[in-house]
Amino acid sequence: MKRMNQGHAVGVGWEDFGDSMKKPIIAPSLFGARSSNYGQAIADVEQAGAQYLHIDIMDGHFVPNLSFGPNIVAGVRDLSSLYFDVHLMIENPERYALSFIQAGADCITIHGEARGDIDAVIQICNENGAGFGLALKPMTALDEFKQYYTRCKILLIMSIEPGFGGLKFMPDAIERIAQARQIREETGAEFKISVDGGINPTTASLCVSAGVDILVAGSAVFNSDDPAKVISQLMGV
Ligand code: DX5
Ligand code: ZN
Repeated sequence: MKRMNQGHAVGVGWEDFGDSMKKPIIAPSLFGARSSNYGQAIADVEQAGAQYLHIDIMDGHFVPNLSFGPNIVAGVRDLSSLYFDVHLMIENPERYALSFIQAGADCITIHGEARGDIDAVIQICNENGAGFGLALKPMTALDEFKQYYTRCKILLIMSIEPGFGGLKFMPDAIERIAQARQIREETGAEFKISVDGGINPTTASLCVSAGVDILVAGSAVFNSDDPAKVISQLMGV
């Protein structure tokens, strides 16, 4: 069954400032919000100017934690028209990619390190109107997955070991963002570079200087008394 996508294009929300200055896309991570209050949390970030909603899927195998299944994504889809950036931290993502697209994912990002069939996931995304993204853990060499980059909409640089929110940003991510930019230039790929883990206004500023396009932030946004303020700080770094 094909699903009509939501009419978003990757990169929706870019604003141009003269020649070069662009605001980063803000992708609040739902995993950092209280599950009793998703409706309000999503409305708050949407109103504050976030363009994406980052949704973390964990299987208890690829990472030592559990989170959401497709039914939760479908429920959240009813609450929001944000671009759904679904981050699969699961083994064998080819088994579940279609379910998440049908539930409302606009882009499916899988881990290069996860046991699974990357080509199959790319095909599922292409055939069903979803973007495809590749995520890499902090210790994985970016060169290892070069053959996929021209088919990626998002390259997600993890700045923590995946599985939990509230961890400390690993500064090596800054150099990896710069390296991803270089690979993008060399290969002619058009992916957006995203960073996930320990992002707050201070670490975000370093990542934006290195050339990141998308900032994923969970606890910095949702543990704050004023999520809208944090989002505007992240947009302004
Ligand atoms: C963890 C997830 C992150 C997480 C980030 O593996 O991929 O998206 O929600 O949380 P913070 O922003 O608190 O590090
Ligand atoms: Zn994530």
